[in-house]
Amino acid sequence: MYIRKNIKPFEKKVWLATPTMHGEEIKFVEEAYNTNWMSTVGENINEVEKLAAAQAGVKYAVGLCNCTSALHLCCKFAGERLYGKPMIGHGALEGKKVFCSDMTFDATLNPVVYEGGIPVFIDTEADSWNMDPVALEKAFEIYPDVKLVVSAELYGFPGRMDLIKQICEKHGALLIEDAAEAMGATLNGRPCGSFGDYSAVSYNGNKIITGSSGGCLLTNDLEVANKARKWSTQARENAPWYQHEEVGYNYRMSNVIAGVIRGQYPHLEEHIRDKKEIYERYEKGLKGLPIKMNPITPNTNPNYWLSCLIIDEKAMCKQVRSDSEALYIPETGKSCPTEILEAIFSINAEGRPIWKPMHMQPMYRNHDVIGRNGTLRAKTNAYIAGSVDDIGADIFQRGLCLPSDNKMTKEEQDIIIELIRRCFE
Ligand SMILES: Cc1ncc(COP(=O)(O)O)c(C=O)c1O
Repeated sequence: MYIRKNIKPFEKKVWLATPTMHGEEIKFVEEAYNTNWMSTVGENINEVEKLAAAQAGVKYAVGLCNCTSALHLCCKFAGERLYGKPMIGHGALEGKKVFCSDMTFDATLNPVVYEGGIPVFIDTEADSWNMDPVALEKAFEIYPDVKLVVSAELYGFPGRMDLIKQICEKHGALLIEDAAEAMGATLNGRPCGSFGDYSAVSYNGNKIITGSSGGCLLTNDLEVANKARKWSTQARENAPWYQHEEVGYNYRMSNVIAGVIRGQYPHLEEHIRDKKEIYERYEKGLKGLPIKMNPITPNTNPNYWLSCLIIDEKAMCKQVRSDSEALYIPETGKSCPTEILEAIFSINAEGRPIWKPMHMQPMYRNHDVIGRNGTLRAKTNAYIAGSVDDIGADIFQRGLCLPSDNKMTKEEQDIIIELIRRCFE
């Protein structure tokens, strides 16, 4: 480790976002152990389902092993409702185009592909960093037959999921809401996770509350909740033997992990408060630099899961990225995400690039991506990354996620702020 910008590395690493435990978690884990419910049934799961439904303001929550599996079941429900039950060996979205968030973690849309769907990406709104409702409208003009939208709330800062839902309703489409990063955030006073026809939240180790892993499918439909419980436990029929009428999954939440999640729920608001303070300290400490923090959409209360920044276009030094490497040319008064991330890493802290938009991923190179002005690339793949029209590529080029761990001390954060300032000297 070399000393970068004359700042000594931290002895103990400052992370992007790690679990914050409080003590109650172990009590519920012990309860599972002592009562021998070391299984995918038990009181902790029942309680987590009640807590998750109440928190999101929906009728039912189904505890699953992670959010990806919840999103998978959401896709299956949507596909079967829209297109009927698929033949064995076929996906419920087989060959169907699905409008998906573009600037997100690939777990948002992997389940679309598990079910045979073809993602069509919707560009990002510059003012919210979430799916752009204007681009979504445009996409329905171009592909009027599409009947499913999968939209994620990024970094705990909700965009216009209300408008996205309205647009879906107007076009007779269903909405899957990926609220993995947004638990506890609200839009118009309504919790994230309550906007989708089917929604999902995550308890992955880096999320606002955690069970080390885990997720919930959220719904207002009792039939969906019951079926999600059945599908997630190998789709066993109600019979004295192992009777099967449809394909099943081993997706249920563990009662041990549910104990951790149960102990975390009472601390959700406290975690959000800590994350908000981190965001506001960055905002204040970085004042005067040619950067902006991730945007807060009007009428939203973010959960502030990750603090991010974007560098003004004029203050960007030259930066190029291949599929696996990044290079930049340092320039006085300017910087770039690569330089800042290198600097953060050099002092034993963790930052992260913005999610690389899905339409820039090699596996989706032939998939369409729709912006406000129509399709962003011709069939020849000849779009220009970073062009003014390609908002996602532009945020990826100029943005980064900052260390946002709620155990980071004020002193540690001050050092990170000073380091970022020195990157612009
Ligand atoms: C936007 C988004 N969707 C889905 C997931 C998947 O969640 P899980 O790890 O619980 O499967 C994550 C994070 O892990 C995420 O950030």
